[in-house]
Amino acid sequence: MNVLKLLFVPAFALGLGACSSGTTSTPSPEASVAPSSGGLLVQTNCATCHGLGQESTGMAPRLEEVRRAWLTAYSNQEAFVQHMADFLAKPSAEKSKMPEAVEAYGLMPAMGYSKQQQVDVAEWLFAHSANEALALAEAPASKTDRLDEGRRIALATKAALGKRLMAKMKEGGPLHAIEFCTLHALPITDSVAQAEGVEVRRISDKPRNPLNAADERERMLLEAWKVLHAEGKEISAELQVRGNRVLGYYPIITEEKCMACHGTPGPELAARLQELYPQDQATGYEVNQVRGAFRVGFSME
Ligand code: HEC
Ligand code: HEC
Repeated sequence: MNVLKLLFVPAFALGLGACSSGTTSTPSPEASVAPSSGGLLVQTNCATCHGLGQESTGMAPRLEEVRRAWLTAYSNQEAFVQHMADFLAKPSAEKSKMPEAVEAYGLMPAMGYSKQQQVDVAEWLFAHSANEALALAEAPASKTDRLDEGRRIALATKAALGKRLMAKMKEGGPLHAIEFCTLHALPITDSVAQAEGVEVRRISDKPRNPLNAADERERMLLEAWKVLHAEGKEISAELQVRGNRVLGYYPIITEEKCMACHGTPGPELAARLQELYPQDQATGYEVNQVRGAFRVGFSME
């Protein structure tokens, strides 16, 4: 757990650092950079994993390094923007200009941004060094910012969980990795929560751990997502207001690497799962199905 925290918290410390430097009212020397949606997205989203300054977060290559590699590959603005927007829409190893980064960190998760946001980010990055985003003022917190803020936190949780899980799978296969999930899945989401002052959970209509069970309203949302997803339509994140809290929901879709434990587990694994989770409902999935959601809870002061 301590190791996880160490691995993980610096990434957030960096993200928060970027925000607090933006919200100060004293103009910094670089504060003349004009705010733009692209720059703000870079500041509030890309920084979490990539880092904007000289320091690496350990979760992804520094953004300025990525930018340099892409500028080398595409010196023409139109090509740069088109290809980067395409990568952000659907990251793949074939589109990578930094194969060693894919090898070292695993492929970047799809961000779920709109087409316009992808283009805005790419245009901004073509023209500005990544560090310049640190100097941008933050936009006032509105509804859409909450949705984006929650998405950033959900993706960072996903990256932290995914990275550790894959390491454990490599180390000793699913039977070994399962102990990691059992011990650490909840604590990791909690450590994110602590670092960000929010509550992060994973919920499912077919939970393995009963603590992760979706409630009635959440089941309806998951049901709606399943229908859309089965029809090949895009499913989008959603905000719900509950009392004095705003909850952001972000879909979790199964991938090949989930199948060992959520598809049809082998007999040994199935027995262990039964032992740990006698009420386990989280098997029988296929690739590319709605498994549940990340839920990021903000309190409204
Ligand atoms: C949840 C963590 C995470 C977030 C958030 C994130 N990235 Fe990434 N990104 C990664 C990782 C890990 C890699 C390295 C593996 C790869 O290249 O796919 C990467 C790689 C990339 C690459 C491709 C590098 C290559 O392989 O050529 C680009 C471009 C990129 N990120 C841009 C962005 C931008 C722009 C943002 C913000 C809008 C962003 N990323 C947000 C994790 C993240
Ligand atoms: C090594 C086995 C293993 C793999 C691989 C695995 N999981 Fe899990 N998963 C678990 C265990 C164990 C739990 C229960 C964790 C807990 O007690 O909170 C769990 C819980 C979850 C939950 C929380 C809801 C629930 O059912 O309790 C979600 C969502 C989830 N997994 C999604 C995924 C996705 C998506 C993947 C692939 C990217 C994946 N898992 C890969 C073992 C695994």
